[in-house]
Order: sequence, then C-alpha cells, then structure tokens
Amino acid sequence: MNQLLNLRAQVVKTLLSVQQGQSLSTILHQQLDQIAPKDRALFHELVLGTLRQWFSLKALTLPLLSKPLDNPTVESCLYVGLYQILCTRIAPHAAISETVTATKQLGFPALSGVVNAILRRATRETEQFQQTLNQTHGLPSWLYKRLKKDWPEQLESLCQALKQSAAITLRVNQRKIGRDAYLTKLEDTDVQAQACPYADAGVFLKQSVQIPELVGFSQGWFSVQDQHAQLSASLLPNLDGKTVIDACAAPGGKTAHLLEKFKPSLLIALDQDEKRLNRVTENLQRLDLNSDHVQIMAADATTWQATRMVDCIVLDAPCSAIGVLRRHPDIRLLRQASDIAETVALQKQILQNMWQQLKVGGTLLYITCSILKAENEQQMIEFFAEHPEAQEEKIIADWGIPQTHGRQLLPLDQQGDGFYYCRIKKIA
Ligand SMILES: C[S@@+](CC[C@H](N)C(=O)[O-])C[C@H]1O[C@@H](n2cnc3c(N)ncnc32)[C@H](O)[C@@H]1O
Repeated sequence: MNQLLNLRAQVVKTLLSVQQGQSLSTILHQQLDQIAPKDRALFHELVLGTLRQWFSLKALTLPLLSKPLDNPTVESCLYVGLYQILCTRIAPHAAISETVTATKQLGFPALSGVVNAILRRATRETEQFQQTLNQTHGLPSWLYKRLKKDWPEQLESLCQALKQSAAITLRVNQRKIGRDAYLTKLEDTDVQAQACPYADAGVFLKQSVQIPELVGFSQGWFSVQDQHAQLSASLLPNLDGKTVIDACAAPGGKTAHLLEKFKPSLLIALDQDEKRLNRVTENLQRLDLNSDHVQIMAADATTWQATRMVDCIVLDAPCSAIGVLRRHPDIRLLRQASDIAETVALQKQILQNMWQQLKVGGTLLYITCSILKAENEQQMIEFFAEHPEAQEEKIIADWGIPQTHGRQLLPLDQQGDGFYYCRIKKIA
C-alpha cells in the first residue's frame, strides 16, 4: 500500500476493495501487514466499524447532500469520518483533519470541502446525528424486507443487535484441559473471562486480547468459536467407534470439536475449497487431533460418493452467513438478494447427495449460520416432504426458537451468533 497515504486513506482503500466485491477475510491480513503495528488496532476498528454502520451512515448522509456524491471514494471518506465522530472516542478535530487529508490524498481535493462541511456539522450536532444513526435499521433494503417477513416480532432488536460487535468466545479443548482449569489459567494471567451458559466447553472473554498471546494457544488448549456454533457437538449422538462425514468442514471448527468430544473410527472432513481445507489440517495439528482415523479431502459434496455408508453426517452448509453479520460486516455490502436462491439450491443439492451416504438408523445434523427461513425451516420443510424415510429428531433445549422443523438461534445478544440446527434420522 502506498506509504504516503495516511491511515484513514488506507482504511478507505480497503473499503473500496470490499465495495468491488472482495471479502475482508481474503484481504484483511495482507492489508494489516502494510500498516504500522501501532496503528493496526485502529485500522481494524475503523474498517469493521464503518462497514457495520455502512447503511446507517448512508441513510444519515443522503438528506444532507444536495445531490448524491456518486463517488465511492469520497462516500467512503465521509462514512469513515462520521464513524469516528459518532461512534468512537477519537477527538473530532483529529477525525476531521485526518479524513479531509485522506480525501485529498486519494485524489479528490475538490470534494474534500463537502466532507469537511458535513463532518464539522456532525461535531456541532453530534447528539442529533447519533439519534438518527441509531434509528436507522442499517441493512440493505432487500435484507431488511426479508427479516421483516421472517422475524417481524424480533425485527427492531435484530437490526440494532446486528450493528454491534460480537463477543469473543473460546472453546476449551477438553482433551487437554478442563474448562474450570483453563478459566483459572486465564485468571492467573489477568484475562477476564467467564464460562458460557449453554456450551459446556465455552468461555466468554470479557476484554479484547491478541488470541495467539493467550495462555495455551500453541499447546492447543483452546480454539476461537462462537457459543452457538459450539452447540453442534452437543446435538450429535455418541460417535465413539462410528463413521462420520463432516461434509463442509473448512476451516475445521466443528470437525475439531467433534474430535475433542468423540473417538470416531473414521472421520472424513470434506470441503470443496482446498485453501480453506489447509486450515483444517493446521487447526487439527495445533489441537493435537490428527490421527489415522481422520481423512481430510477436497471434494464437491454435491456429487462425492463415500465408499461405504456412514453412521453420521454433519452438514454445516454453505449459507448466506447473515447470522454472523456482526463478525463479518462486509457481508452487508457483498451479499445480494439474488444470492439467496442460489445458496438455497446448493444447500439442497448437498443435502440430497449426502443423505444417500447415510446408513439407515444414522443421523444427519443440518446446520447453517443463517437466520433466513428459506435456508433453514423452509429448506427442511421441503426436505421432509420429499423424504418419507427421514424423521426429525426434535431438539429439546433451553436455547433458541423452535421452528416447524429444527431450532433457530438469533444473534440478539452477546450469547452467540445466528445459527440453525435440525437433526434428522434415517428410518428406512
Ligand atoms: C459454513 S462453512 C463450514 C464451516 C465449518 N464447518 C466450521 O465449523 O469451521 C461452509 C463450507 O462449505 C464449503 N462448501 C461450499 N460448497 C461446497 C461444496 N459443493 N462441496 C463441499 N464443500 C462446499 C465452503 O468452502 C465452506 O468451507
């Protein structure tokens, strides 16, 4: 990245890449490498925070402009500037001068006056601006309409919650250390944490930390995983000595959890994406879970055939990921209305193919990190209608919202992300 650009200009360049369709997970590490270490935390905060507030900032600024800016660079500068003034403790004069400089550095000196004027107004009318910002739903309109249809009662709280950041949650590797013992280790190293209520290996961190610096990282004592994602292992039957397919396994969060809890005779971890699959290998190595009983395989789950039927299938399907919007705020800009039907069709194809690999008496756990009914409840309604040999094994739990089939968790608080689970037994 150009060394002459200030930090705000570098933030804007990253935001422009997202607007051009690049996902943050593919560019962020590389971008961060080019930022001075002392500025990395701020860079990260400004990129993620601005994306989280993107559509709220759009709604806020539209009435302030005599005509639309029609310039993605200047628009991004404006949003980064407003985000600093309205949502951070950065001194307003620093936010304004750095952002106006960034606008000039990025080649738009003539429009820096507009940015300057709106940011100055925001410092004079901060409370009013904040109020307007908070009142907006902050979602692209297609997604707002979908959530309104799917979750009318929870709509307002959902929109507000999705603008927040999510808690950092760990899963303790119980093959290495118990949760209580690990909590003590954290306490001994002055890291504030507490046990998760629903996930028996889960730990909420109460402060921000550098994960690799946490006690026991290199020894594989823990992984980072959302509490609601950790519920998957508790929904599986005992898999000791059983054959299992994790059909969409990368980067291996649920594969590793399964191996921490059970000793299957064979676990096949499939994924179509070879690069992401490397992370499964790395994660299992760090956690000391690699063994002859685990096969990691690049394959397309819509067509791949197992050599013999298996006892259990974990199907953490590719999805819209709307349930993890807080952790991946770039999805707000990247996901389009038309993607949903395609995703639903892909999920259905994977389901159909994997179902054929399951023994009679076996269990398939269908999972998404989506909160859209089309990918979850509706997907399952169609599946059961087409498969009389499938029977739902109801999930009885003190978490989530029971659906016609399966159970839905919403990302409404700091407990966890939006997840959907449905457990299916093959009865004939
Ligand atoms: C929700 S992620 C899985 C997360 C993983 N289970 C975990 O807990 O870490 C969905 C995965 O499905 C994979 N995928 C998408 N289409 C696929 C296909 N046709 N066959 C196999 N894997 C696929 C993606 O590469 C992605 O890694």
